[in-house]
Amino acid sequence: MLINGQATKTLSALDRGLQFGDGIFETIAVKDGHIAALDLHLQRLQHGCATLRITPPDTTILQREIQQLIQPNCVIKITITRGNSQRGYTVEAQSKPTRIVACFPLPIFPAHYRTAGITVRLCETRLARQPQLAGIKHLNRLENVLARAEWHTADIADGLLLDTADNLIETTARNLFLAINHQWVTPDLRHAGIAGIMRQRVLTHLAEQGTPAVIRDIAVSELPQVDAAFVCNSISGLWHIRRIVDKNYGKSLSINPALRALLNAF
Ligand SMILES: Cc1ncc(COP(=O)(O)O)c(C=O)c1O
Repeated sequence: MLINGQATKTLSALDRGLQFGDGIFETIAVKDGHIAALDLHLQRLQHGCATLRITPPDTTILQREIQQLIQPNCVIKITITRGNSQRGYTVEAQSKPTRIVACFPLPIFPAHYRTAGITVRLCETRLARQPQLAGIKHLNRLENVLARAEWHTADIADGLLLDTADNLIETTARNLFLAINHQWVTPDLRHAGIAGIMRQRVLTHLAEQGTPAVIRDIAVSELPQVDAAFVCNSISGLWHIRRIVDKNYGKSLSINPALRALLNAF
């Protein structure tokens, strides 16, 4: 792990990433030596820094540090915080961003998630609607932490997250695509959620195939109309949803040909 270029795991307790979650992060998959969609990750990182008005890191330095740490199969995590400050929220003009580049093992998921699909639950924890922060991968992930703590059984791979207006937004760690009336739809993330890189890649792919997905608000009440569904992120790729479970609701989904084609493409 490199912090501002130094090999260390130790950071000041005054860092605003720790004090306030004042920063952003990226998790990037490296498979067989190939860094997946690095340009898109670096673009989102720049956009997140611009949104929070944090001076972005020099891309050449980041790329050099990634090359220093990279393993053939790993997850590269980049974290940028606003740097140190005193106790209060006031941004100090001289604050210097902290740049953390780290390399982690690729997680191993049960193979049947990919082949047979996953079961998801409907989480009780709701995502707040905050248009100023929606889309970016900022460091405040308490809603995800609370939602992921709602279940402890391995048979449930992920949980669907609604916002406070009863819209489906994403899952605890992935974006969501649903087939409704033979049309792929994915939630509009202008109020909540992370605009994932894998979501972006899937959207581009579907558009190139001549079957563009519709980005819109999706009310939870539309779940009974869903014919097929999948979740995606940069590390685990695409998993189709086989079953949605909830205390007042249960639904089984199948794989349609359009979904099979997508799973094969990624
Ligand atoms: C809450 C949430 N939504 C969506 C995503 C998907 O993002 P990406 O495709 O960039 O990995 C993630 C990734 O970790 C996430 O944690």
